[in-house]
Amino acid sequence: MAKPIGIFDSGVGGTSIWKEVVKMLPKENTIYLADSINAPYGEKTKEEILRLSIKNTELLLNKGCKIIIVACNTATTNAINYLRNHYNVPFIGIEPAIKPAALQTKTNKIGVLATKGTLSSSLFHNTSKLFAEGITVVEQEGTGLVELIESGQLYSEEVKRLLTSFLEPMLELNIDCLVLGCTHYPYLMPVIKEILPNDVTIIDSGEAVACQTKTVLGRNKLLSNSIDRAEHVFYTNASVKVLKDLIDWPTAQVSKLDF
Ligand code: DGL
Repeated sequence: MAKPIGIFDSGVGGTSIWKEVVKMLPKENTIYLADSINAPYGEKTKEEILRLSIKNTELLLNKGCKIIIVACNTATTNAINYLRNHYNVPFIGIEPAIKPAALQTKTNKIGVLATKGTLSSSLFHNTSKLFAEGITVVEQEGTGLVELIESGQLYSEEVKRLLTSFLEPMLELNIDCLVLGCTHYPYLMPVIKEILPNDVTIIDSGEAVACQTKTVLGRNKLLSNSIDRAEHVFYTNASVKVLKDLIDWPTAQVSKLDF
C-alpha cells in the first residue's frame, strides 16, 4: 500500500474533512482514527487535548502515514504547534474560518459556533484579532452537539432544540455569516439551514483543508501516482456502526481498535 494520508479527530466529525480529501485527492490511500471514546475533546484541558493528539499522531505514524491532517478544530488550536515541532511529517490543521467570514460580512458581525476548547485557545484568539479587526465576532459554544452526533442522532428533536437556542441569539445580534468551527457540525447542515434565513452565509473549512493538503503534498513531492484503487481504512475505539453510516463508502474497511 502506498504511504497513506493519516487523519484523526476526537470522533466521527473529521470524516466531513475526509470526504473533501477523497474528492480532491482520489488516488491517495487514507487511514482515519476516530477517538470517539474520548469525545468531546472540547470539554478537556489543553494538556489532555495535547496528550490525546500525541497518542493519535504516534499511532498514525506507526502505520506509515506520510502526512497528518488534524481534522479537529479543538486539537488543531490546542496542539498543532507542538506536533509540528516534534514530528518529522507535515501537519495540516483546521481552524474556524474567521478570515473568509470577515471578508464576506456586510453587517460586520459574524458568528462562530465551536467547542469550548477551541474558543478558549490562544490560536483562536490570535486569528480573530488578526483577521477580524473592527468586526464583532459572536462566539457560541456548541455544548452537547458533538455527543449527539457521536451517538448517531443527526436529526433528533434535541439537536433542533440545541441549535435553535444557540443560533437565535446570534441572529438577534444581526450576524450575516456563521462559521462552523467544529468538524462535526457540517453533519447538522440540514437542521442549521432550517433555522437560519437564506441570507446568512454558512462557512466551513473542509474544502480549504483538502486544497491545502494537496498543495503541501505536492510541495513535499509526496503525491501518490499509484494506479491501484485507493484504500480507505478507518479505526474507531467506539461504535463501528455510527462511523460506517456517516462515511457511507462501501469499500472502506472500518474496524474497532483499542487505542
Ligand atoms: N470535531 C472536533 C472539532 O472540530 C470536535 C471537538 C470535540 O470533540 O469536542 O473541534
